[in-house]
Amino acid sequence: MKDNGFEAYKGMRKIIIAIDGPAGSGKSTTARLVAQKLGYTYIDTGAMYRALTLKVIESNVDPNDEDSIVKLAENTRIDLIYENGNLKVILDNRDVSDKIRTPEVTSLVSVVSAHPKVRDIMVKKQRELGKDGGVVIDGRDIGTVVFPNADLKIFMTADVKERAKRRQKELKAQGFEIEIEKLIKEIEERDEFDSNREISPLKKADDAIEIDTTNLTIEEQVELVLKKAYELINQNSN
Ligand code: DC
Repeated sequence: MKDNGFEAYKGMRKIIIAIDGPAGSGKSTTARLVAQKLGYTYIDTGAMYRALTLKVIESNVDPNDEDSIVKLAENTRIDLIYENGNLKVILDNRDVSDKIRTPEVTSLVSVVSAHPKVRDIMVKKQRELGKDGGVVIDGRDIGTVVFPNADLKIFMTADVKERAKRRQKELKAQGFEIEIEKLIKEIEERDEFDSNREISPLKKADDAIEIDTTNLTIEEQVELVLKKAYELINQNSN
């Protein structure tokens, strides 16, 4: 059996793995790799909110105008294509995988995603995508709201300086050079906003396992989540 020895888990009962946490905690990278190892689908709900935010910007809609964003969202198609460990984000049949990661989208996504009626639409789409299991889904409210009955819930955290460093590296790879102090401030503001909004705030579910990734490598984070996943998959298969 080539690959990583985990091929054996493909074809067994498919569970739902919810990974929540603040910006830069390592949840997306971990979720993507865990999905790849298990042969599961990866659903990046942050990417869905980012795609909608891009559409808001391109349509010249005011990010504070909830009703107009609802109308836009109702007429928007967002597809997540997960293949060979890579995620493609398709907005109305256009690949926007890179465009949704720009600082402009990042600075507005918290405002767009805080509108309750907008969240209703997005949560519905997310539940539909994950309903058959065999998914790793990451975001802010997955374990608390989207899939409160998820088989495995992980809440990832990390020191804000470490998170800013990771973000700086990601942005550099995209051609944006941004000072670390600015990123720390932005991350703190976004966490504050996401954690204090009225509906579905960023919050650890009571039954989530917390993983602090400050001093962990990506491989270590992935291993921790996989270990928990195997325990559950084995239990559920007996
Ligand atoms: O994970 P991310 O940084 O790509 O998410 C971008 C924003 O989307 C985040 O600041 C808050 C919002 N978001 C949300 O409100 N609920 C989710 N389930 C996922 C993301």
